[in-house]
Amino acid sequence: MSSLMMGVVWYLIGRYTRNLVDAGNGRFNLLILCWGKSHGSSIHDHSNAHCFVKVLDGQLKETLFDWPASSATNATEMNGNKPTDEHQPLRHIAVNHYKKDGVTYIDGSQLHYL
Ligand SMILES: [Fe+2]
Repeated sequence: MSSLMMGVVWYLIGRYTRNLVDAGNGRFNLLILCWGKSHGSSIHDHSNAHCFVKVLDGQLKETLFDWPASSATNATEMNGNKPTDEHQPLRHIAVNHYKKDGVTYIDGSQLHYL
C-alpha cells in the first residue's frame, strides 16, 4: 500500500484517512478526510455539534436524513438524546453532489452519509 504526503496531509491511497489539522482548544476539530473512489462514511449524526464540509479535491455525494417523523421530537428538543425507535425509518431529505470547493453543512438534528 502506498501513501502520499500533501503538505501536512497524509493520504494512504485506497484507504479512508483522517488528518487532525487543529483541535480548536477543545471547541472544534478541523480535519482533512481522504477517501478513495467510491469510498464513503456510514450514516451518522454529529450529536450536538455542527458539521461543515468543504471539498478540497475530487467530488462528493452527500445523502441527508432527518430522524423519524414519529419520534417524540427532534434531537435539539431532546437535549441531544436521539430518538431510539428503531422501527421507524429515517426520513430521506436529499442527495447533493459537490465538486471542488463545494460546501455543505448539517447541524446536530440531521444525519448524513458521504
Ligand atoms: Fe458527518
